[in-house]
Amino acid sequence: MKITIISGSHRNPSQSMKVARFLRESWRAAYEDDDVGIFGLADNPLPLWDQRVWEGSAEWRALLDPLREDFRASDAFVIVSPEWHGQVPAGLKNLFLLFGAQEFGHKPALIVTVSAGEGGAYPVAELRMSSYKNNRICYLPEHLIIRRVESVLNENPGENNQESDSYYRARISWALGILREYARALGQVRASGATQSSTYQNGM
Ligand SMILES: Cc1cc2nc3c(=O)[nH]c(=O)nc-3n(C[C@H](O)[C@H](O)[C@H](O)COP(=O)(O)O)c2cc1C
Repeated sequence: MKITIISGSHRNPSQSMKVARFLRESWRAAYEDDDVGIFGLADNPLPLWDQRVWEGSAEWRALLDPLREDFRASDAFVIVSPEWHGQVPAGLKNLFLLFGAQEFGHKPALIVTVSAGEGGAYPVAELRMSSYKNNRICYLPEHLIIRRVESVLNENPGENNQESDSYYRARISWALGILREYARALGQVRASGATQSSTYQNGM
């Protein structure tokens, strides 16, 4: 099974990338035969969408084709998003303009949001409301909100709030297990052919 974790923070370094790395290591520890990778938006590797994407310009294809291949081969995604001014970062929304149903369609995704304080609910709501219509990504009903992120999931135990850290580690492990089962189940849905249509290419 192939899992892609997308870290949606443009900052470098970022707490979202710290969380993404923790998720990757947790997945590897639990399911050692799986292929799990991170694609990070640190330093903005993807320019803003423009018309040449739809025209298939050579420049865009050189940038996007390797990622398309990687995402198309993925069975499931984890979308890690910080809360920035109550929103999902613009670069993550841009990613959802650049890739579509062939990469994400009818594949499960776990939303993981990150806040330095008590935030994190707005990006969950935003992703659920407006990032799935045409690409048909399937967000799990379970999601994770990592609050006070600087005090959890650090490699150095001395930097962690022990109670919160233990809670998040256990809950992450549970959520990843759910994601893996959805990945197995939705693989069958895609293989059935029921989701394919040349008529209904976009969601309503
Ligand atoms: C531009 C910007 C806006 C932010 N706005 C919020 C916010 O609205 N709510 C919140 O809980 N944290 C906010 N934060 C703090 C983030 O929660 C904090 O940076 C956290 O580490 C996650 O972001 P990161 O993955 O980029 O590090 C903001 C951070 C930045 C850089």
